[in-house]
Amino acid sequence: MEMKRLEIKYQGKPCYEILFTDTFEALPEELSALGFEGRKICIVTDHIVCPLYLEEVTQVLKKRFETVVSYVLPAGEEHKNLDEIRQLYAYLIGEKFDRKDLLIALGGGVVGDMTGFAAATYLRGIDFVQVPTTLLAQADSSIGGKTGVDLDGYKNMVGAFWMPRLVYTNLSTLKTLDARQFSAGFAEVMKHGLLKDVHFYTWLVDHSYEITDRDLETLGEMLWQSCNIKRMIVEKDPKETGDRALLNLGHTLGHAIEKTSGFTLLHGECVALGCVAAAYISWKKDMIGMEDYYEIRDMFVPFGLPISMEPVDCKAVAALTLSDKKTQGGKVRFVLLQKIGKAVISEEVTREEMENALQELIFDEKE
Ligand code: GLY
Repeated sequence: MEMKRLEIKYQGKPCYEILFTDTFEALPEELSALGFEGRKICIVTDHIVCPLYLEEVTQVLKKRFETVVSYVLPAGEEHKNLDEIRQLYAYLIGEKFDRKDLLIALGGGVVGDMTGFAAATYLRGIDFVQVPTTLLAQADSSIGGKTGVDLDGYKNMVGAFWMPRLVYTNLSTLKTLDARQFSAGFAEVMKHGLLKDVHFYTWLVDHSYEITDRDLETLGEMLWQSCNIKRMIVEKDPKETGDRALLNLGHTLGHAIEKTSGFTLLHGECVALGCVAAAYISWKKDMIGMEDYYEIRDMFVPFGLPISMEPVDCKAVAALTLSDKKTQGGKVRFVLLQKIGKAVISEEVTREEMENALQELIFDEKE
């Protein structure tokens, strides 16, 4: 496939490119073009991605780079913590990595966030490159420079904004991605359409067959559009002092549902549920019509995403949103929809409205 590129600016200046292709072959050349020739590289991955791609990426890089080492993290959100980061620092010290050397995050969102955080803090900051291998990481977490780890049960509680030098997306990695992970990543793509671009939303709906069939040309077009929406938002508000919070559509209740499920539901599945809940609250506040609500809800189904869940204690889940770090002065900053393709931030969502939306999500055996 033809390589596509998207340039991301930071503070008004070109900062890094997202590159879309279907092999790892061009990675060394891209790194050389960025001036990394002669530097040591540490590929950070996890034990799921390691057997799939580590050897291939290492061999490709060794054609141009003398020192290519790797570090394998345990996979999963439960390992996204400071203990693992400390062990990675120790490894880098042992390998004598200095300020000029480079980390490559090869994997999904957890690997990207952790590698980015290690890069942001090791020797007060070294370069890193994202090589995302899941749809969630390709569509969302590898872009925009959010890095970090969880702390004491709070998601992404410790972190830094640290921009990658390149996001290298090999779309063919999506071919081996587990079906549930693929669907979960798609929730973030749908989120981008819902919050900013009705044409993209309609395009997604019209291409559901090609997307779920993982046609690479379609996925390339989809990701370019999806990343372009995120680009516009993060360029305007890189540090989330304003509109970047729109990207949290579906995340306020989504995070609370994720935590309540004990992480048995995937992040993207909870984002889908959170978007349905946000649409419900938007309908109940007369911001969107009933048809829009049902359309948004049902649209997740062909993409293999949940729109209902097992019974939960709605009061307890709604209460959890107050401990989300995205609260400001004790108020939940909720993202609602004014229409499909236009999200707004509201501090006017009550605990009761959240509880009702959660109740609506609970699986009804009669249906
Ligand atoms: N995932 C939301 C953001 O990057 O701001």
